Amino acid sequence: MSWNNSLKKVPYGGDYNPEQWPEEVWEEDMRLFKKAGIDTVTLNVFSWASLQPSEDEYDFDKLEKIVKLVTDNDMNIIMATSTAAHPAWMAKRYPDVLRTDYEGRKRKFGGRHNSCPNSPTYRKYSARLASRLADKFKNQKNIIAWHISNEYGGECHCERCEEAFRKWVQEKYKTIYNVNKAWNTSFWGHTFYDFDEIVTPNALSEEFMMGYRPHTDFQGISLDYRRFMSDSILECYCIERDEVKKVIPDAYVTTNLMEFYKPLDYAKWAKEMDFVSWDSYPQPDYTPQKTAMGHDLMRGIGDGKPFALMEQTPSVTNWQPYNALKRPGVMRLLSYQAMAHGADTVLFFQMRRSIGACEKYHGAVIDHVGTSETRVFREVSELGRELKELGKKTIGMTTKSDVAVMFDWDNWWSVEYSAGPSNDLYYRDQITKYYEAIRKMNINVDIISQDSDLSKYKVVIAPVLYMIKSDLDQRIRSFVENGGSFVTTFFSGYVQENDLVITGGYPGKLRDILGIWVEETDAYPEGKNNSFSYHGRRYPAKTLCDLIHLEGAKMLDDYGYLEDFYQGMPVVTSKKLGGGRAYYVATESDMDFYSAFLSDVLSKAGVHKVMYTSGDVEVTSREDEDRKMLYILNHGDGEGIYELPEDGVELISGIELASGMHRIAAKDVHVIEIKK
Ligand code: GLA
Ligand code: ZN
Repeated sequence: MSWNNSLKKVPYGGDYNPEQWPEEVWEEDMRLFKKAGIDTVTLNVFSWASLQPSEDEYDFDKLEKIVKLVTDNDMNIIMATSTAAHPAWMAKRYPDVLRTDYEGRKRKFGGRHNSCPNSPTYRKYSARLASRLADKFKNQKNIIAWHISNEYGGECHCERCEEAFRKWVQEKYKTIYNVNKAWNTSFWGHTFYDFDEIVTPNALSEEFMMGYRPHTDFQGISLDYRRFMSDSILECYCIERDEVKKVIPDAYVTTNLMEFYKPLDYAKWAKEMDFVSWDSYPQPDYTPQKTAMGHDLMRGIGDGKPFALMEQTPSVTNWQPYNALKRPGVMRLLSYQAMAHGADTVLFFQMRRSIGACEKYHGAVIDHVGTSETRVFREVSELGRELKELGKKTIGMTTKSDVAVMFDWDNWWSVEYSAGPSNDLYYRDQITKYYEAIRKMNINVDIISQDSDLSKYKVVIAPVLYMIKSDLDQRIRSFVENGGSFVTTFFSGYVQENDLVITGGYPGKLRDILGIWVEETDAYPEGKNNSFSYHGRRYPAKTLCDLIHLEGAKMLDDYGYLEDFYQGMPVVTSKKLGGGRAYYVATESDMDFYSAFLSDVLSKAGVHKVMYTSGDVEVTSREDEDRKMLYILNHGDGEGIYELPEDGVELISGIELASGMHRIAAKDVHVIEIKK
């Protein structure tokens, strides 16, 4: 059984915090929820302080009342464990729960997501709370999922973490000799003689901040600390999950992730979760593709299975410098976009706007005015009605993709810890350009990890594949030999998993697969470009430019430099290997180039778009054995068109559509079912 099997419709609702309100308000909430078609609430996200008012005292009365209320009102519950913010008494009595920050300062009580992941007190009491909650609600049939803590994150540099890090290092490397080798400590004479000399890498030791980006003198230790911290926090999740499962073996357990969240290796985390869930908060500069990329990442780490949209705002956030409203129709559009990319729930933060503290101006289904007479409430109700009508028709379908884009956390950390060649190199941005260009062609994309199976794809794109872990190069080689198309770029193949350079010429183990040798790399500051031609058009060459030699690859164009000494060297190359091709792009360019280049690569590989659409219309497909579901989403401000390849039924309106051209209004959505 999987978490979404028994769902009768797309769960609709979100974070509900009635404990912040007098009980008179609760009944009104129920009335308004019904009116808006809300059937699912996430309860108990931040209630530790009231559930355990002192060390030996637990009090579940209020929560039981709330559970009864929503159950009597036929709602599903997602039960959170409340451990994302510890109670004040705990911080006072057991200071080990408090974190030590990057600058080495011991924190005091305050904030949230604030517990040291290696604190024995935190681990003991969070486990105990999860266990007691599970016991209390083990027979509660309408709990559809357990939600551990909330948006895990951050880091700690306290003495306990330092101690735990030494153990982690010792388990990994066995001897101090191996540690010295892995971290190349002969540089600057940083040789360790004993494990207890190892300290956490932060602003007091090997690291320093440059703007928002931490830099390190020793990538090896910093990288391992990132891995260790992600593992430590993951252990906290697993401890609670196991407590819940001890009591309720068939519980579905998750925690809400945050798309490209750098500190936690979500690919590893997802393996411990019954299903992936995440919180989607597109920022003002997000294109529709960039928003979609978060969904595709979350689907990707969950092995392609449907995921839960655990939070989105119905209208506005409070935590950005300028909190723009979601324009009319946009909340609905983004909800369907989540479903289009694999979500089987539509959930909000939050149901009722709180009156105090930092989130009082965050959007909510019920505003401070307290009535249903708001634009937001009307839009929420309209979507509620539609999702009810759709029933379970969209649930459980999966996405089939011929194209994969590789994204890897170890690689992310190591690219951005690298001192040189450029401070402007941001891994996520590089990936986004390739992803965005493909998604603009309305081709389904999977986002995969380094250890994913490549063989099911026609095209695998791995921009800035700086770190090659384990046997990835072998798997890329057989993928290409067996007919696949592989694309990579500058700053690829340089290091193994400890960030030690693979000697013998860049791009290391990819050198003969790609048929090139990168002799040198030039860096350009922002605003200064070089240029190159591709099929007769000129494109900018930015950030980094490799000076490459052909060793079996074919040159598809050249830099065409105006002034530099490497004019005429190859920029884009292709090598035939077995039945496939390996491409190399030696510089960063603009979206016009990525579109032109990738449409060549994809059409050569036999990958075609789902259908023709006008400019701002996005299309994805999900399918099961008998049906294909097309999601047509018009992100534009004007009417769009699309060409339906087969006859189908538009499920929201119930209208049958013949194959051929159709119109779609601005911000509108068509969900078209096609029988196979
Ligand atoms: C996160 C948290 C919520 C809330 C929202 C506000 O996603 O999980 O508790 O703070 O942000 O956008
Ligand atoms: Zn700590």
